[in-house]
Amino acid sequence: MEGQIVWEDIATIGRGLGEEAHKLSGKTVLISGGSGFLGKYLIGALCYLNDTTLQKPCRIISVDNFITGSPHAHFSYKGRDDVLEVWGDVSQPLPVREDVNYIIHAAGLASPVYYKKYPLETIESAVSGIKNLLELGRKQKNLEGFLFFSSSEIYGDPDESAVPTPETYHGYVSSVGPRACYDESKRLGETIATIYFEQFGMPTTIVRPFNVFGPGMGHADRRVLPMFAYKALNKQPIPVHGDGHQTRTFCYITDAATGFLKVMLRGKPGGVYNIGSEENEISMKNLAELFIKLEGNSATYQLIPYPSNYPGGEPQRRCPDIRKARADLAFVPQVNLENGLKRFIEWCRGEPNYKDGALHD
Ligand SMILES: NC(=O)c1ccc[n+]([C@@H]2O[C@H](COP(=O)([O-])OP(=O)(O)OC[C@H]3O[C@@H](n4cnc5c(N)ncnc54)[C@H](O)[C@@H]3O)[C@@H](O)[C@H]2O)c1
Repeated sequence: MEGQIVWEDIATIGRGLGEEAHKLSGKTVLISGGSGFLGKYLIGALCYLNDTTLQKPCRIISVDNFITGSPHAHFSYKGRDDVLEVWGDVSQPLPVREDVNYIIHAAGLASPVYYKKYPLETIESAVSGIKNLLELGRKQKNLEGFLFFSSSEIYGDPDESAVPTPETYHGYVSSVGPRACYDESKRLGETIATIYFEQFGMPTTIVRPFNVFGPGMGHADRRVLPMFAYKALNKQPIPVHGDGHQTRTFCYITDAATGFLKVMLRGKPGGVYNIGSEENEISMKNLAELFIKLEGNSATYQLIPYPSNYPGGEPQRRCPDIRKARADLAFVPQVNLENGLKRFIEWCRGEPNYKDGALHD
C-alpha cells in the first residue's frame, strides 16, 4: 500500500512532463545525490518514462556518497539495466568514462541538523561538487542540460516586502551566521554555474526549491514534516521551535519533481527558477494543529526552545513567487497542503522508522 503511494506519485511526475519527456529518449543522465529524498524520485520518474513513454530508454547514473542518504525498498532500482548506482563523492572529480547528456547536481546536506553537523562537507558538496560536475559537463560533446539544486535558503530571512519572494530578490544572508555553510555555499554554487554558462556557453539551469515534502523523507534528519509526522503518529507532543509564528509553504513531491525536471528540460539556459507552492503559507503552530486534526488522535503540540543541534537564524517567512516558472515552464502546483500531508502521513504510518522508539533525541 505505502509502496503504491510512491509508485503512483512517481507516475504522476513522469506524466507531468508531457511532450518534454521525449528529449530524454536515448540520453544519459547523471544524478548526484541519487540516494537522497529528491534524487530517488528523479530516478524513479526517469525509470517510469523508460517503461512507458520513451522510444529509446535513457540511461541513469546515480552517484552518492551516502553521507546522509540511504536505500529504501520503495525506491529500489536494483536489477534494472537502465540504472547504474555507484558510490562517489562529488567533492572529488568523478571518473566517468561514458558520454553524458544531462547532469543533475542534487547532492547536498539539505537538513539543518545535518548541515550543522557537517558544515565543511556541506560547503564541499555545493562548491567543489558543482565545479567538478561542470568540468565533467564541459568535456561532453553533447551536453543538453545541467541542473543545479540550489535552495530557497539563499534568500536568507527576506524582508516582509519581498515575500512572496521572486528570483530577483538578492537575499538577506549572513556570511558568518549559523546557516552560512549552507546558504553561502549554495549562493557560490549558483555563481559558479552562472560563470560556466556565461564563459563556456554551458546549458546550466538553477532551481531554488522551497520546502518539498513527501513519502521517502528520512525521519531522522528532523526536517519539520517528518518530525511532526513521527510525533503525531506516536501520540507524542509535537515540538514547535520558538514561538511557532515562523511560516513556510510546502510543496508536495509530485509538483516539485515535475517542476525540477521542467527546469532542466525547458528552462532558459542560465536561468534561475523558484519551485515551490505559493499557497497555504502556514505558521509552524498552525501546522502542528493541522497534523493533530489530520491524525485525529490525542496528540498536542508544545512550544520548545531551539534545540542545540539546530542552527539558529531561522527565516521568519518563506513563500515563493513562482510567476516565472508558471510563465516559462507552465509550472502549476496541483496538490494542496492538506491532501499532500494525507498521502505523506499514510506512507509514514507503514514505515518502521516512524514507529515509537525509532527516533532518539
Ligand atoms: N528537499 C527540499 O525541500 C530542498 C529544499 C531546498 C534545496 N534542496 C536541495 O536539493 C538537493 C536534494 O535535496 P534532498 O532533500 O534530496 O536532500 P537529501 O539530504 O535527502 O539528499 C542529498 C543526498 O546527497 C548525498 N550527498 C551529500 N554530499 C555528497 C557528496 N559530496 N557526494 C555525493 N553525494 C553526496 C547524500 O548522501 C544524500 O543522499 C540538495 O542539494 C538540497 O540542498 C532541497
